[in-house]
Amino acid sequence: MSKLFDPITLGAIPLKNRVALAPMTRSRAGAGEVINATAADYYAQRAGAGLIITEATQISRQGQGYPNTPGLFTDAQVAGWRAVVDAVHAKGGRIVAQLWHVGRVSIPDYQPDGGQPVAPSPVAAKGQAMKPDFTFTPFVTPRALTTDEIAGVVQDYAHAARRAHEAGFDGVEIHAANGYLIDQFLRDGSNTRTDQYGGAIENRVRFLLEVTQAIVAEIGADRVGVRISPVGTNNDMADSDPAALFTHVAAALKPFGLAYLHVIEAEPPHPMAGPEGSPRLAKALREAFGGPLMLNGGLDRAKAEAALADGRADLVSVGVPFLANPDLVDRWKTDAPLNTPDRATFYGGDEKGYTDYPFLETVEA
Ligand SMILES: Cc1cc2nc3c(=O)[nH]c(=O)nc-3n(C[C@H](O)[C@H](O)[C@H](O)COP(=O)(O)O)c2cc1C
Repeated sequence: MSKLFDPITLGAIPLKNRVALAPMTRSRAGAGEVINATAADYYAQRAGAGLIITEATQISRQGQGYPNTPGLFTDAQVAGWRAVVDAVHAKGGRIVAQLWHVGRVSIPDYQPDGGQPVAPSPVAAKGQAMKPDFTFTPFVTPRALTTDEIAGVVQDYAHAARRAHEAGFDGVEIHAANGYLIDQFLRDGSNTRTDQYGGAIENRVRFLLEVTQAIVAEIGADRVGVRISPVGTNNDMADSDPAALFTHVAAALKPFGLAYLHVIEAEPPHPMAGPEGSPRLAKALREAFGGPLMLNGGLDRAKAEAALADGRADLVSVGVPFLANPDLVDRWKTDAPLNTPDRATFYGGDEKGYTDYPFLETVEA
């Protein structure tokens, strides 16, 4: 019997099923990085998910690195998100805000002072950033945050969590995956610091734990999740021993009693899979964390059920198929065919490829 459609409670958040909407940047925010009004429709259409995780949402201007991504630190941004949260709740859904600071993969165009982006260390990522006009430019060398500045960034996370609570969100997800600021601290390919935030694994994990502690103090551990991508190479990430690092991360998060740990672990040739031969860590991480584990990456219904059945996960999240199928849970339940995603409309644009994916035809009574 499928467990995918059974309820589960993540900390203080009761879910009606175990299929979450994975966080997906859509780059459609308006002036002042206020989430666009159409987002209320987009997310409400997907309220059949057990949990909706919003697109990554910057905690400060310094944290932005892509065009038209929403923030969650000004009054206008909070008001914008409140409309989204209300629309999802009106449909019986649950929604958490994914909190984001991109660190070194920002560019001066997004920085409040037009200067270098910040990072644990002055190590540039290989690859290209997207400018505000959606064209590409090579990543720049970031400047290392001073110890005092790190405390300020931790406070920015806490502030954004408080604002998420004000907007009515059910909780927040700390984005510690995919090569953004927290991940840059975690992995030794991007963290070459010699202070208490660099070197040994215990030190590289410190920033994540401080952010978690500060957010937990604001909104309670039972409304906080953390997302990690242990073997992912997004944004030029690398670590000499991802198994040791991320098992330590999961164990270090355990005492907080968080709502969930969200792990991206895809199989090649999925674009978010690690290099060939990467360790499969979900099971060990679930054990070390000791709380609900949400697995993501290339999952269809059968793979999702297998992950629940063989002890790798308690629930799953789904990205691209959910983007293109607002009623994905109903379609999975009935083995209905799926809409084809339109990659050209993933980032930026209007309702096309956003709120116009068709629902299954339902017979009206
Ligand atoms: C258009 C798009 C935007 C994404 N934006 C984010 C994001 O804002 N935050 C994040 O953690 N992951 C982001 N991801 C990664 C997804 O959450 C997910 O990990 C990935 O799509 C793999 O899951 P899937 O195979 O079910 O699509 C994005 C993926 C896509 C396709």
